[in-house]
Amino acid sequence: MFKPKYKRILLKLSGEALAAETGFGINPQTIQSIAKEVAEVHALGVQVGIVIGGGNIFRGIAASAHGMDRSSSDYMGMLATCINGLALQDALEKEGAQTRVQTAIAMAEIAEPYIRRKAIRHLEKGRIVIFVAGTGNPYFTTDTAAALRAMEINAEAILKATKVDGIYDSDPVKNPNAKKYDRLNYIDVLNQQLKVMDSTAISLCMDNELPIVTFNLKVSGNIRRVVAGEAIGTIVEP
Ligand code: GTP
Repeated sequence: MFKPKYKRILLKLSGEALAAETGFGINPQTIQSIAKEVAEVHALGVQVGIVIGGGNIFRGIAASAHGMDRSSSDYMGMLATCINGLALQDALEKEGAQTRVQTAIAMAEIAEPYIRRKAIRHLEKGRIVIFVAGTGNPYFTTDTAAALRAMEINAEAILKATKVDGIYDSDPVKNPNAKKYDRLNYIDVLNQQLKVMDSTAISLCMDNELPIVTFNLKVSGNIRRVVAGEAIGTIVEP
């Protein structure tokens, strides 16, 4: 009998998670295998909200670094998350899960608007809710959107899917001696400028005591392990 540690989670997926090795676009096999894992966890009775990034299509902050107006480039990034959200919806429904997409920027022909109480109702009715268009505001990352939505839907934790096994004291890709933390508190993450989420997202979680579990999405079965409460990855909590 599967006993989940969390009954309602907010899963944060980066846009790049949907791409293959190139980091660009949406790879059909990659998105389907993620959808399969999410649908499996959902079928076990866990309520799942998802915030998806857009970096596999367009990265606002990178474009602004090249001289583009930051607000315009952030809006383009938000639109990229909508493309990813619709692709993820399709992939999840192929796995037999019921889903709804809610957007923070009105586009009624494409997705329903973000309405907090309706999102909660969808979750209660067994639908996976995919939140797109970030917070609807430039200068806010999709990690901040994840923290915000997690709080709004009363999720018990944010599951932050990454490419590495957790939070390290330095970049494990560049430094083979990097040390992984099992547990951290928010203030350490902020003070040490550990690259897990931006400081706005971390502060929001800190102020509201929302745990963040970072884990490696590339290891099959990891979403289920985190939900089951296995000590994989790194947990940031009070
Ligand atoms: P309940 O009736 O509360 O169980 O929820 P429901 O989502 O099934 O009902 P609703 O009639 O609101 O939605 C039916 C379908 O239309 C769902 O697939 C929604 O995602 C979609 N939908 C609802 N509102 C909008 C909207 O403003 N725009 C778009 N594009 N789709 C919408």
